Amino acid sequence: MANSWVNSAERIGSDLHLEMSGPGGRRTALIRALREAVRDGRLAPGTRLPPYRSLAADLGVARNTVADAYAELVAEGWLTARQGSGTRVAERAEPLRPAARVPKRAPPRVRGPRHNLLQGTPDVSAFPRAAWLASYRRALQQAPNEVFGPGDPAGRAELREALGEYLARARGVRTEPGRIVICSGFAHALRLLFGGGVLRGPLAVEAYGLGFHREILADAGVRTVPLPLDEHGAQVDRLGRERAVLLTPAHQFPTGGPLHPARRAAVIDWARARNGLVLEDDYDGEFRYDRRPVGAVQGLDPERVIHIGSVSKSLSPAVRLGWMVLPARYVEDVLAVKGEREAWVSVLDQLSLADFIVSGSYDRHVRRMRQRYRSRRDRLVAALAEHAPQVEVTGVAAGLHAVLRLPPGTEASAVKAAAWQGIALDGLAAFRHPDADMAVSDGLVVGYATPSEHAYGPAVEALCGALPPPSTGDARP
Ligand SMILES: Cc1ncc(COP(=O)(O)O)c(C=O)c1O
Repeated sequence: MANSWVNSAERIGSDLHLEMSGPGGRRTALIRALREAVRDGRLAPGTRLPPYRSLAADLGVARNTVADAYAELVAEGWLTARQGSGTRVAERAEPLRPAARVPKRAPPRVRGPRHNLLQGTPDVSAFPRAAWLASYRRALQQAPNEVFGPGDPAGRAELREALGEYLARARGVRTEPGRIVICSGFAHALRLLFGGGVLRGPLAVEAYGLGFHREILADAGVRTVPLPLDEHGAQVDRLGRERAVLLTPAHQFPTGGPLHPARRAAVIDWARARNGLVLEDDYDGEFRYDRRPVGAVQGLDPERVIHIGSVSKSLSPAVRLGWMVLPARYVEDVLAVKGEREAWVSVLDQLSLADFIVSGSYDRHVRRMRQRYRSRRDRLVAALAEHAPQVEVTGVAAGLHAVLRLPPGTEASAVKAAAWQGIALDGLAAFRHPDADMAVSDGLVVGYATPSEHAYGPAVEALCGALPPPSTGDARP
């Protein structure tokens, strides 16, 4: 019995087409067919259904089959049954209506730029699929059953222990697992700390930084105050009445210099004297090419610094895994904002990352990517020296992007010229705080990690060809 026309259902008032097909027995098929009829509006709310006997006769099924189906749908709330008024479609059983307004989405971009040198992404073609899969498999095999219950908002102990050991060894962070709270990345950390009311503004930030982070803070009602930058990094001696300062000490984002050692000490002195707090965004701290990475500022005073990191640059921004290393007095407040159970970060991903770190895969991957990015930076510097010697690469040999200094007044036209050549990149101005009263030199921010290995050479070649020619004053013999 695939289809049945029910037309003796006089109370329904019109023929009712019930599609009695699909898996399961007749009772199941009838329940499914009636649900469908209510859902798509063929059976309107309030409609009286035929008595068991007549529907059973029409469909060629037993009377009990219909009675059972009705009872099931009454229990589910699709139908109501009242003494004397028979079985009706429930008033609340709303038929499916087309959405009043389907939100318009931008059509997917089918063609990106020919050469993507936008900063912000590691080489995604290098994601360590096999090693991650091995960690995931081990994590799943070894996980006790309680892993599949609600997660601890602090994060899995296995991951916090692995991170505590790793951050001490690789970044000079001083902590223990009880001070680490897992989050989905730096942006999430900002939302928890400021959106959740753990910290309040005004917050000093570097005069150049990610606009996206400033927007998160503005949405949380936090006023950000730009700190000027010079060749030694943020001018922390200009800190005023702010309660906290957000810095990228290892590698200023995006201008590319490390915070001078005297300024690292000075900002800790400021925090101690003013009961202030330093937020350390350690977004690419592992990637230093000319020397060992400089340790985290957090190591100078774990009670005055919140150290924040994520795997977004080291592994992938799609994994959405990060951590906050907190002074003891903030742990309870942050956990209260996170709620009773983990609601953001998959516990299985946390266990995979713990295994990835403990098994040595994380170190191996970072070492491999360090070599790759270092060689890319070297290639960029060499190509510019040969083909565009008027353009200087500034900042230290570190991270996943470089800044090319341009002659004053040429940045906007250089970004445009690059776009004409199919090259996507940003100028430094795109990162400037709107209230900043200083500007660094004109420059281009080149995300040399972004292209895959085979696409990098052509991207650098195209970039060299698109750079502004030397002005007469700059011309070299
Ligand atoms: C300056 C800066 N901070 C932090 C991050 C990391 O952000 P998230 O962990 O939210 O992906 C990035 C981007 O990867 C960044 O550019």
